[in-house]
Amino acid sequence: MITTLVFDAYGTLFDVTSAARRAAAEPGGQALALAWPRLAADWRRKQLEYTWLRTMTGSYADFATVTAQSLDWALEAHGLADPALRDRLLGLYEELTAFDEVAGVLANLAASGYRLGILSNGTPAMLASATQAAGIADSFDAVLSVDAVRLYKPAHQTYALIETHLGARPSQTLFVSSNGWDIAGAAHFGLWTAWVNRDNLPVDRLPAQPAHIIPDLGHLARLLQ
Ligand code: LAC
Repeated sequence: MITTLVFDAYGTLFDVTSAARRAAAEPGGQALALAWPRLAADWRRKQLEYTWLRTMTGSYADFATVTAQSLDWALEAHGLADPALRDRLLGLYEELTAFDEVAGVLANLAASGYRLGILSNGTPAMLASATQAAGIADSFDAVLSVDAVRLYKPAHQTYALIETHLGARPSQTLFVSSNGWDIAGAAHFGLWTAWVNRDNLPVDRLPAQPAHIIPDLGHLARLLQ
């Protein structure tokens, strides 16, 4: 029986494209007007690559560092390197927009008696800031950061943090992520999984498959019935 739901943060609760989109709409954001979708995509892709590469090579640096370094790469690639823009984008990353359904879904799940957590690559400070900005900081029984093990997802030691800190066995835990590779990692570790396939992407060709696929978090309640 599922007692505990654990959410990935970036891309699942928080829209990682919202930093570049919001910066583009601000005064002085003209340089981003056309470029922001590709800048956001490259920033995210490099950010994830750097997490995997740093874990593989034993050269951990925290997610704030990786996020800044991947932004520097993306800004330079798009001819947009500029200290003020960099600072603004990193500031907005601390207060990313949550997807519309998030607050309501969390409140309903908590009211139904589920224990709720986050397991994210984000540092504790980044996660505290983002959950506070979105008004969901009080929704969780535990906000877990991979920083505790200095490895990034999908290393098994990261998913093991859930049982250590929330006390739920893998068979009692539903892990929810919009990142297909994260779902594959969690399923390989032995968690129940729900892949939030917001962009209607193909299933990743990796050693474990999602147990469930839903289009957004609003479908969780029906899935749990
Ligand atoms: C996280 C990344 C995977 O929140 O988005 O862990």
